[in-house]
Amino acid sequence: MKKHLFIIICLLLSVFCVNAADKKFIKVTTDGVELVFQVGQNGRLYQSYLGKKLSYDTDLNYLPMGTEAYLTHGMEDYFEPAIHIVHNDFNSSLLLKYISHSAHQLATGVDETVITLQDEKYPVTVKLHFIAYAKENLIKTFTEITHQEKKAVKLQKYASSMLHLNHSKYFLTEFAGDWAHEANMTEQPLSFGKKVIDTKLGSRADMFVSPFFLVALDKESEENNGEVLVGSLGWTGNFQFTFEVDQNNGLRIISGINPYASEYTLNPNEVFRTPEFYFTYSCSGKGQASRNFHDWARKYQVKDGDKTRMTLLNNWEATYFNFDEEKLVALMDDAVKLGVDLFLLDDGWFGNKYPRQSDRQGLGDWDETKDKLPHGVGYLTEAAKKKGIKFGIWIEPEMVNPKSELYEKHPDWVIHLPNRDEYYFRNQLVLDLSNPKVQDYVFGIVDNLMTKYPEIAFFKWDCNSPITNIYSYYLKEKQTHLYIEHVRGLYNILERVKAKYPNLPMMLCSGGGGRTDFEALKYFTEFWPSDNTDPIERLFIQWGFSQVFPSKTMCAHVTTWNKNTSIKFRTEVAMMCKLGFDIKLSDMNEREATYCHEAVQNYNRLKPVILDGDLFRLVSPYEGNHTSSMYVSKDQKKAVLFAFDIHPRYAEKLYPVRLNGLDPNKMYRVNEINKVQTMPMRPGMNNPLDNKVYSGDYLMTVGLNLFSTRQLNSRVIEIVAE
Ligand code: GLA
Repeated sequence: MKKHLFIIICLLLSVFCVNAADKKFIKVTTDGVELVFQVGQNGRLYQSYLGKKLSYDTDLNYLPMGTEAYLTHGMEDYFEPAIHIVHNDFNSSLLLKYISHSAHQLATGVDETVITLQDEKYPVTVKLHFIAYAKENLIKTFTEITHQEKKAVKLQKYASSMLHLNHSKYFLTEFAGDWAHEANMTEQPLSFGKKVIDTKLGSRADMFVSPFFLVALDKESEENNGEVLVGSLGWTGNFQFTFEVDQNNGLRIISGINPYASEYTLNPNEVFRTPEFYFTYSCSGKGQASRNFHDWARKYQVKDGDKTRMTLLNNWEATYFNFDEEKLVALMDDAVKLGVDLFLLDDGWFGNKYPRQSDRQGLGDWDETKDKLPHGVGYLTEAAKKKGIKFGIWIEPEMVNPKSELYEKHPDWVIHLPNRDEYYFRNQLVLDLSNPKVQDYVFGIVDNLMTKYPEIAFFKWDCNSPITNIYSYYLKEKQTHLYIEHVRGLYNILERVKAKYPNLPMMLCSGGGGRTDFEALKYFTEFWPSDNTDPIERLFIQWGFSQVFPSKTMCAHVTTWNKNTSIKFRTEVAMMCKLGFDIKLSDMNEREATYCHEAVQNYNRLKPVILDGDLFRLVSPYEGNHTSSMYVSKDQKKAVLFAFDIHPRYAEKLYPVRLNGLDPNKMYRVNEINKVQTMPMRPGMNNPLDNKVYSGDYLMTVGLNLFSTRQLNSRVIEIVAE
């Protein structure tokens, strides 16, 4: 029986596998995008095309050969290679020739193409994988490297992807910043030479720059026009993007793990699988590119991407480390009054020998501080249950304060140099996740809490320190594997958590947005984009992250940051993403508390549109004093529009804002919601946003007057097809 099955599988494979002689072109195609490779007379693989899908296969013959697809070190191309291997004889050249390719369907609308390349002189095999998501116009790619040399080879470079573009001009947008200042968008032209965006932080790797980029072709990027390529690497560690313009003005984009201090010893027959690189190509601007990413992320990548999200009240900014049972239970009452789904207990609940009174001690000792929580977490889950809300808890399981029992017991579990003073970031060190015992311990933190308190319904998983003092006691002579094995160790832990607790939603946090990649989001339902909750700053930060992340993955909380802004303004900024609160009701007056309660109710009603609809960014905060975005449901029957006046000039001229994404032939009722009556309406005054019916055509051609010259003013408008 087994033998027959084997023969059938072999026959099937032989149908799908094609040899070089049979086929000259290899196409990776979605509904709108095409990536075409060609095998040259010399047997090497070239990338001939990347762009809008071509309509006629007969035209493929006219395509230029292009540039060698996955460039190797040591041959005749003098630009940055994708791969660099040192063989057993110390020769470091590699010449990859096409062997075969195969294509198969992974699911409806998802096809994988694998191109196998080999060196004729050295037994090295490189497999390029491309997974095309037809409807979402997104391509996921990764590389597998193996060899059968007698001894291990040294991998110096091992890119996930190399892409080639050939346009007159290139404009790169990067997303850089710092703590509380994440994902700032800056666009710059690329000319001859290299621009490298990378991180060497190891853990909390994206603190200064996020692992995604946008390249506009021929002209600067626009929201609704022009060709753009948007790419992102799924790796929760050191990444590197290299953009190199060559002497012919060709652009080569190499994406992968940052090979910095990470020479990898690859044993014979071991498969080195790179992280995944995801990209989309849009011919109608960055707005469409974002929607491609959002659709793909919700459907295929993010944990519970198809499910809704819970609103919550977090105690961090309400109490910091200073709380007890009574204060927390009182905050739960606030959560109930606000009408949110969950209460989230943040940092400061653990440690007894070194109670966690500040960030200087206790990290690593995950039992409840007796004098703060004498009745344990169970008392809190019970209290929440009685009040009809869920309970969530903060952990930072990958880190340790030197002042902790964990450090005292297991100094060899900590990444630090054996022969030098320790240097700290936020008074803490990073645990060595390459060590399987440490992986067990970290998994155990979640597992023990869940076993003891099965009512825990949510985790906020933090990670506040980059790796300092890099040295692993576990890896011994393989120190250059640490950056990679550390991340692999993290994934092992997260796999175990997901396998045992598949329905447990978790927020990914890293001192704000220090971890913002799609591989991590396989395990997390959402992430914390920034500790900066000043709503004005958030308008920019959310705008930046929205380029690739869907709104349901971005947590946004109403806090007391920037009291110059009203509660309404703060709430409406947060309503554009996954709404939460990090504030006490006593920080508000009665009217504000009532407003918040109503806003939560409106949010619950509008969640399907905000979290699962298409995002149309209408007016960028980078362009001036106002900003506006809207979400449109997939059936175009409902939309929610957000508009903000930030710091308008006195007597500034205001123009209507054209809406987007609606059906021009539908009639829509437009109604401003979340209103706070500050001034009595003058009799006969006619608000054009109050219960009026417009055609989609009018809304998208003429637009609505959404903006005012009022400082820090905000509006939410509900749009419903008649
Ligand atoms: C980080 C997080 C915050 C909060 C604190 C607690 O800074 O980003 O949201 O959880 O840690 O120490």
